[in-house]
Amino acid sequence: MITQDDAKKLAGQLVIERFVRPGMKLGLGSGTTSHFFVRELAKYVADGLELTCTTTSSHTTRLAEEVGIQITPINDIGVIDLTIDGPDEIDNQFRMIKGGGACLLWEKIVAHASVQMITICDETKIVPQLGAFPLPVEVVKFGWVQTARLVAQTLQDHGVSGADIVRRERDGDVVSTDSGNIILDCHCGRIDQPEALELALNAIPGVVENGLFTGESAGMVVGRLDGTATVTM
Ligand code: 5RP
Repeated sequence: MITQDDAKKLAGQLVIERFVRPGMKLGLGSGTTSHFFVRELAKYVADGLELTCTTTSSHTTRLAEEVGIQITPINDIGVIDLTIDGPDEIDNQFRMIKGGGACLLWEKIVAHASVQMITICDETKIVPQLGAFPLPVEVVKFGWVQTARLVAQTLQDHGVSGADIVRRERDGDVVSTDSGNIILDCHCGRIDQPEALELALNAIPGVVENGLFTGESAGMVVGRLDGTATVTM
């Protein structure tokens, strides 16, 4: 058996071998799994692999530049060939909850600017049913209590009753996203209608984006605790 971190690293190594090609425009994801991948990618770049990369968070930009990967701003890169990013939960249809690191808005913008998105994770992220991980909803600060009330109503309308909704804080401070918004973590338990809920949440004034990614990922590269890694498309 290997550790969860080593399983994440395996996924990062395999995705490079199988999907990254010279000259590609790449979107680099956020979170610990993506950051293992970025560190691994940096070794290839140091060895001469030519890529044009953009990122899904300021944190990933800092890391990439630290390890020697030059970052092109999202507005200057054009159509991205491939984005590689991690989930908080993923089901067998590659539907995901993302945003545990508060980067969901940039992650979704980069995913939609890409021809293909591949998800990398360790096997603990694979679930039969979405919803145990709290669903992040990014909202503007103005009127957030009103927005939260409409989020609760929308969850209820989509079969999620009595969800606890918590404004995200870290060390006593309200978390602010890279775009200056806040995060409402919705403790749903289970989500039975992810596609409809994803659309409905985004129709609420004040909601900027939510962490359901129901149609973006074309496949997953999974590192397993037995030391193997698999590609599922
Ligand atoms: C950040 C994200 C991350 O991709 C997600 O939280 C996965 O992170 P990790 O690889 O650390 O488990 O969505 O907003």
